[in-house]
Amino acid sequence: MTQLLLRSALGKPSTTNRASSPAKKSILKWLLRKTSGKTIFVYDQPYLTRYYLIGNGSGKSFEVYVHQMHKVDEFRWLHNHPWRWFLSIVLAGSYWQETLDCRNGRHQREHIRRVNLFRRSDRYHAIRELPSGSAWTLVVVPPKRQAYEWGYWDTQNSCHIADETIGHESARTEVFGKKVLED
Ligand SMILES: [Fe+2]
Repeated sequence: MTQLLLRSALGKPSTTNRASSPAKKSILKWLLRKTSGKTIFVYDQPYLTRYYLIGNGSGKSFEVYVHQMHKVDEFRWLHNHPWRWFLSIVLAGSYWQETLDCRNGRHQREHIRRVNLFRRSDRYHAIRELPSGSAWTLVVVPPKRQAYEWGYWDTQNSCHIADETIGHESARTEVFGKKVLED
C-alpha cells in the first residue's frame, strides 16, 4: 500500500503522469515531512534523507524507511551495513551500484531499477550513478547485528575499517520530526 501510494505520488520513471508529478511530489514531501527523519549532508550538499516509517534506528527490530538518495557515494571505499541484509524497493528513479564480494574479490556494477536484495556483510557497495538526479526507495531492514561495527573495505590493505574510526569532518546531519533517533 505504501509503495503504491509513493509510486503514485512520485510518478513512475515513465512519462505518463509527468504533468502532475511536481505537485504530487510536493504533497508527498509534505506528508513525509510529517514523518521523523534526518538528512545527511556531505560538504553541505544533501546526500541522503531517511524517513523512519517504522522504527527509530535502534536496530532492535525490523525497521522500514523511505530513502531519498540525493547524491552518489564519492568516498573512495565501498561500505557495508549493520544488517545481515536489506531490501530496497525503488519507488522513483533508479541507481547504479558498484559491489564487491570479499570472498572472491569480484566487482560488479548493477543498475537497480526495481528491487535490490542486498545480502551478507562481506559484500560491500557504493552508489555510483543516479540517472534521474535522485532516487526514492522503500527500505526494509532486519535487527542490526549485535556487536558489529559496519564500515568500509580498504582495497589497498584488504581489510575492514569501521565507520567509527573514520573521520566525518565533511558530514553533518539535520534531524526532523518528533522521534528520538538512535542511529
Ligand atoms: Fe549502503
